[in-house]
Parts: sequence; C-alpha cells; structure tokens
Amino acid sequence: MIYTNAHIFDTERLICRPFLPSDAEDMFRNWVADPDVQNEYGEPVYTDISQVNALLEEYTRGAKSKYRWAVIEKSSGENIGQIAFCRMWKECQTAEVEYCIGSRFQGRGYAGEVLAGLIRYAFAHTDVEKLEAYHRAANSRSGRVLAKSAMHITDTVQRFAREGIAPEDEVCYCIGKNEYYKLRKELSLMGELHIIDHPLVQHKISLLRDKNTGTKEFRELVSEIAMFICYEATRDLPLKEIELETPIAVAKTKVISGKKLAIVPILRAGLGMVDGVTSLVPAAKIGHIGIFRDPDSKGAVQYYSKMPEDISEREVIIVDPMLATGNSATAAITEIKKLGVSNIKFMCIIASPEGVKAVTTAHPDVDVYTGVIDEGLNEDKYIVPGVGDAGDRIFGTK
Ligand code: URA
Repeated sequence: MIYTNAHIFDTERLICRPFLPSDAEDMFRNWVADPDVQNEYGEPVYTDISQVNALLEEYTRGAKSKYRWAVIEKSSGENIGQIAFCRMWKECQTAEVEYCIGSRFQGRGYAGEVLAGLIRYAFAHTDVEKLEAYHRAANSRSGRVLAKSAMHITDTVQRFAREGIAPEDEVCYCIGKNEYYKLRKELSLMGELHIIDHPLVQHKISLLRDKNTGTKEFRELVSEIAMFICYEATRDLPLKEIELETPIAVAKTKVISGKKLAIVPILRAGLGMVDGVTSLVPAAKIGHIGIFRDPDSKGAVQYYSKMPEDISEREVIIVDPMLATGNSATAAITEIKKLGVSNIKFMCIIASPEGVKAVTTAHPDVDVYTGVIDEGLNEDKYIVPGVGDAGDRIFGTK
C-alpha cells in the first residue's frame, strides 16, 4: 500500500489521525466502554483504563496500528471514535472498512462524514482500488451511513467470498475507484483543494521565496515543484490492465487508459511549469492562454488563446505558479469550458485564500492543486509573503 502524504486526513468537522497514547481517556469515556458501540461491531467492552492502554499499544505500535485512524472532533478536540481498514487484500487492492462513533456523538452525521472522508482519502492517496464494508441487516442506521457515503449494495465482499460463506445477516457494500470518480463528477462533487505538503515541495518553495534566489535557480525550482504537484494531480488517472512478456514471464500489468491530457499554461508565468509537467506526461499536448492583469482594475484581460484541436476530448490541467485574486484562473477555466472540456484541474505553486475562494466558487467542479496557501494579498494584489512577481523572476525581466 502506498501513501504519499501525511497519514492524516480531515473533513469539515473531523480530523482523522493515527492513534496516540494520550487518546486513552477520551476513548474510555466516549466509546470503548460503551456496549452499544462495541457490541455493534463485535469488539469487547472495556471496563478498565489499563485495558484501553493495552489496546492503544496495539493501535499505536502493534499489528493494528496501520491504516487505523482516531476520529477527532475539531470543535472539542476529543477522540470520538475510529475508522480503519480492518482487512486488506493486496493482490486485488481491496480494503474492508470498519468504523465506530461514540453514542454521545451519534445522530450528527459524523459516521457518514468520516466514511466519505476515508473513501476520498483512500482513492486519492493510497493504491486501494476498491473499498468494501458490511453491516448487520438489523442495523438500519449503518445502512443509511453506507448508502450516503456513495457505496452501493453488492452480493458479497472479499471476506465472505474467501471464507466460502454467503452473507446472511449482513448487507454488503462496495465502491471502486473509477466508479467513485465518475459518480463524483456526475454529482459535481469535484472541486477539491489539494495542498501538496510533501517536505521536498515545502523545502523548494522556501528556496523560491528567498529574494536572493537568482533567475536560473528560480526557473529550475518552479519546474521541479510543478513536477511534484503534477504527480499528485494525475493520481486519479484511470488504469487498464494489459498483458505483456517480461524476460521472465507473462505479466498482467497496468497502463494509463482513457482520456489524454493537455496542459495549458497561463502566459507568461505558467510557462515556467510546463517542463516539469511534461517531464511526467511527455505525450500531453500544450495549449496557451494569454491573460494579463489590468493594472488599474486588476481584472483579467484575455489577449491570446491557442489550444490543441482535440482539446474537448482531453483532460486539461491549467498551470500558473501564483493563484492571487483568482481572476486569471477563473477566466482561463471559463474559456476552456467554452471549448467543450469537462474535466479541468488547476495547478499552482502558491495560492492566496482569496484566489482559492474565487476559483472554487466560480468553478466548483475544478480541483485546485497548490503547494501552499499564503496569508493573503497586499494592496497591489501580490501574494504575501509570496515570491514577488513570478513572471519577472522566471524570465529575469526585472
Ligand atoms: N502574480 C505574481 O507573479 N505574484 C503575485 O504575488 C501575484 C500574482
């Protein structure tokens, strides 16, 4: 199983992180001693904090520590439950999910929220291709949670199939990765913000910020960071299985299938990101869009557009290192949508909160990828602390 980002994910109201020894008291108070919670998913009811400490030893260091997240309520900071891949079958990249939320915190939609968060996280940041879960038929609440999470009912799940038993009292659910992304698109649930917090990206952004970094180094850094961000932005490209011969044997192996890519830099600073992206996706076609900021109104003025002929059949990644007011990005996305493109991503290196808000509000179906979100904009609409004028620094024009 491959993880690319920190082993933490969050949702609107919850943070999911690895368990810590300090979780014991919250767990004891909120769920592990609660028969309603523990019986429901077949776990012992804990009667003593020392038992919880032993369990936590397993959750933090032992066999049960991997792929298990403590569910923390943001508003109170309390550990209110857990979610985990309780079984995994690497050969078919399938994981079975289990979760629980303390009784006191039920009825607020937390179970559905954490499950949806894990599904989103798992498909974006691990190589899991299919998620499965099941619940006792008598537990209709769990059924509602699973159905709301986008999972659908299926005849059986790996666990039962492998044990050679037919589910009787259990209702089985599953969702596959391709199916999930298709569904999200249909429901217009795209439009997520992805912050690529990889240490190498963060380190290189710090070097970019330094006013003493010269043109050559600045240009190289922009290109390298673009490559790292592109790695994440292409994580959901669909794969298909092919068969080929290695020198040793016939191998069933995977290649990228389906839509082809086009990269569209916003002139001129976006050009600095093209090499980094094409070093990962050499077959991508490149369109260009010229947009400048009107110095007075700070509004976006388009002066150039040249796109690949088959752009409407491609997934498009628009690139611009700085997402400041969001005016250029929003205008570029609008222009590319007009050409019939339905799958668009926007990649930048540094974003302002204002820019992210503008783009995701105008185009809620577009995913935004950035290395960092800075404090905000100054009166000249430059990002603070930012890097200054990225175009000038890439091309050495000032
Ligand atoms: N464009 C830049 O180059 N820098 C900023 O800070 C904002 C927009």
